[in-house]
Amino acid sequence: MNKFPKDFLWGASTSAYQIEGGINQGGKVPSIMDRFDERETYPKGITGFKVASDHYNNWKEDVSIMAEMGFKSYRFSISWPRIIKNVKGDVNQEGIKFYSDLIDELIKYKIEPVVTMFHFDTPNFIDEVGGLDSSEFSKLFEIYSKVLFENYGSKVKWWLTINELNMFALVGQTIGVISEKSKASKWQIMHNLNVAQARAIILFRKMLPDGKIGPAPNISSVYPASSKPEDYDAKIKFDQLRNWAFLDIVCRGDYSNYFKIALKSIGEEIMVTEEEKEVLKNSKPDFIAFNYYSTMTVETATMEDYKKSLDKNKDQQKGMVVPGVGKSVYNPNLEKTQFGWEIDPIGFKNTLKEVYDRYQLPIMITENGIGAKDVLTEDEKIHDDYRIEYYKRHIKFMSEAIQEGVEMIGYMPWSAIDLVSTHEGISKRYGFIYVNRDEFDEKDMRRIRKDSFFWYKELIEKNGENI
Ligand code: BG6
Repeated sequence: MNKFPKDFLWGASTSAYQIEGGINQGGKVPSIMDRFDERETYPKGITGFKVASDHYNNWKEDVSIMAEMGFKSYRFSISWPRIIKNVKGDVNQEGIKFYSDLIDELIKYKIEPVVTMFHFDTPNFIDEVGGLDSSEFSKLFEIYSKVLFENYGSKVKWWLTINELNMFALVGQTIGVISEKSKASKWQIMHNLNVAQARAIILFRKMLPDGKIGPAPNISSVYPASSKPEDYDAKIKFDQLRNWAFLDIVCRGDYSNYFKIALKSIGEEIMVTEEEKEVLKNSKPDFIAFNYYSTMTVETATMEDYKKSLDKNKDQQKGMVVPGVGKSVYNPNLEKTQFGWEIDPIGFKNTLKEVYDRYQLPIMITENGIGAKDVLTEDEKIHDDYRIEYYKRHIKFMSEAIQEGVEMIGYMPWSAIDLVSTHEGISKRYGFIYVNRDEFDEKDMRRIRKDSFFWYKELIEKNGENI
């Protein structure tokens, strides 16, 4: 029998720029994501984020369908450019109202709102102070955080700081989160984001002492490609650069020596001021949230590998290379999704155990899921048995992790509803709820329940005991 805690937060996730659309509605100012599809580097033949799933105009219906599925929680992000108008921090009241109404509606259905403060959609006005390259970034993030805590702090208990902070450093260009104008090293950008996160947590403690806040990186166990000691060496370094650097800084208050040395060995260095050191020391989270899609397998990498990795078609799960450290390779023991992402449910359990063992904080899963080209049949059905199978296996191993001692708060897979993928369009669908549109034909945006919708509804009803 699989046992989950009584108040386990079963739900699902989305992010503002990937579902909302309405980029010119409600006083929203431009963000880096609004025109990402117009960049040279964006793959051709794939829609961008201007309309997305039109959730901005359909949010009530969307929430009611989530309630029908029995969600206990819903993780969504607040769009910074919908809330703040400029570098002075002027507030857009229409934006405030949009999320306030959304939160009230969730509460009406007894769905716990889990808020991501920042999920990739940097407002363009940040460029006026040097963008993510600048240490000023963290101060503007603090101003934004204050507005969020003031307006929603009395209604929202669970807060996530920055989504996948580590992906900014590792694949920032591919997923479009780094501006084309950026000149700073991606590791310095990572540091600026870490300071922003720390400032937000410190402020949170002062303003909302009863709330809970945590980081939300993308974490995965790393396997060596072989039993060659060199590959194991690459695995240890990759663990630092891909995973632990981003959790050590927030949970332990400093970068580890291993990380600093690994950075030096690849010719990188980050500037940390004395004031920032103090800030970073004092920003412990209440829990760790992380996104998990698959594990990573690595072997040592040459400079030649690094040059190849500059190929713009690389992806956040495929082809990650850190010169002088390692490169990711396919694991021959794992199946792949239609989009080439490896499927590793046992790796999920082991990642949970590694994270818990290292930091001893409760864990919330804020993303996990399978992107697929779902087919709408003539009788209006979506038979996504592959998605059900994916979830069954991951939830089974999550339950084993709990039995083996991992303390868990909830599971919010990706995604509640179909949305536009970071760089592979709407055809890479993740939702329990289908959105009737194609890449460039917006059709009627009708919401249709997939087979996985009914399966997940029953799973939530039985608190996972039927898995
Ligand atoms: C995570 C992000 O990287 O993975 C999401 O937090 C993203 O924003 C998800 O959509 C799946 O990735 P992709 O590239 O398939 O959209």
